[in-house]
Amino acid sequence: MRRRAFLALGLASTASTASTAAAAGLTGCASDGGGEGQSEDTNQVEVFSWWAGPGEKEGLDAMVADFEKKNPGIAFTNAAVAGGSGTNARAILAERLKNNDPPDSYQAHAGRELQGDVKAGKVEDLTFLYDREGWKDKLPTGLLDAITLAGKIYSVPVNIHRANLVWYSPKVLAKAGLAGPPRTWSELLSQAATLKAKKITAVSIGPAWTQKHLLESVLLGELGPDKYNGLWTAKTDWTGADVVAAIGVFGKVLAVSDLESAAGDWQPALDKVISGAAAYNIMGDWADAYLGRSKKLMFKADYEVATSPGSSGIYDFLSDSFALPKGAPHRAAAEKWLIECGSVDGQDAFNPQKGSVPARTDIDKSKYTGYLAKALADWQSASTTVVGSLTHGVVANTAWNAAIDTALAAFVRDRDATTFASAVAAGRTL
Ligand code: GAL
Repeated sequence: MRRRAFLALGLASTASTASTAAAAGLTGCASDGGGEGQSEDTNQVEVFSWWAGPGEKEGLDAMVADFEKKNPGIAFTNAAVAGGSGTNARAILAERLKNNDPPDSYQAHAGRELQGDVKAGKVEDLTFLYDREGWKDKLPTGLLDAITLAGKIYSVPVNIHRANLVWYSPKVLAKAGLAGPPRTWSELLSQAATLKAKKITAVSIGPAWTQKHLLESVLLGELGPDKYNGLWTAKTDWTGADVVAAIGVFGKVLAVSDLESAAGDWQPALDKVISGAAAYNIMGDWADAYLGRSKKLMFKADYEVATSPGSSGIYDFLSDSFALPKGAPHRAAAEKWLIECGSVDGQDAFNPQKGSVPARTDIDKSKYTGYLAKALADWQSASTTVVGSLTHGVVANTAWNAAIDTALAAFVRDRDATTFASAVAAGRTL
């Protein structure tokens, strides 16, 4: 089931090439990894990510601590640039890569986002590392597909996040007289009227990327997984009546959100759910790290989670991975960092703090408790349908994502679903 669902993402063709190449003994060896600007300097490593804020940095810190324990001779430079979903970081990284000033390793989402960097020749082939470390059979096939192009593997995934979740406070729902979170978007809209009477905003929201995250959840819930997948493979017509209607529902959800006073980032948007100013926030499971680890709230008593309306049984996945840019100044140390990212110890240090489940399949399950125990069970369940995230790099490349951002900003102003759908369809690039 997982394999079938992953296949629907349209990312799979390359992996079969990978297996064929491996079977034929054609995969790279260590010497393939030598990059331009390679240096013998092994005593430091600069790692670029966007995990600087609360709920983000705890996971990175935990993995860095394990890295430093295993590599006492290497000084770790944390080049994280704050800002949810890497909006700020990616712009700075692009500038650095353009100026031939790469970090030693950088965070990139598995899927079309990473594959764009591969096509642009920015990153090194890491197949040799997979062969050397024996990683190929330690990752789900669909995930391997998402980091593979033309038979070569280009990054090391550390985790699996789930995007299609609604976060709420059981206390706030009880105060509003609501029995539970909405199971459909139309139920959310009817709950919004009840909430409004109690002066509670139905949905809290943050900057543009969180609006896109909400859009993706509404599309998934309204269209179902097959049509949602088809949006990214041109099998579903963006300008069709069902998609335009789903975009209309998104407009109605925006209308019951606090868009006018939107939070500066995802953490303050979640704060509104805890304070009772808002009932719901649609966010990925990094929210569990923020609420449970950073704010030390109690799962179930202080905060709760459900699949976003209409998406029960679906895992809208994304994966944070680390790549090796060409010309990394401290390449040998960067390799050590990538080995940390790909290791059981690294992933079991990182993920319980990050609110994600490990990319590897052979990890220590006992480390995943509270929300994460359910996430891991759902991720590993054969009956779960896996789809890929738009906002977090899986299903659309960077150029298409940018076109969607522009169209979305216009839609948020004018609420014209037909124009939005046409702009998104026209912005598609392969
Ligand atoms: C995602 C990223 C997550 C988390 C989130 C909020 O794009 O994959 O790990 O950091 O943004 O910043």
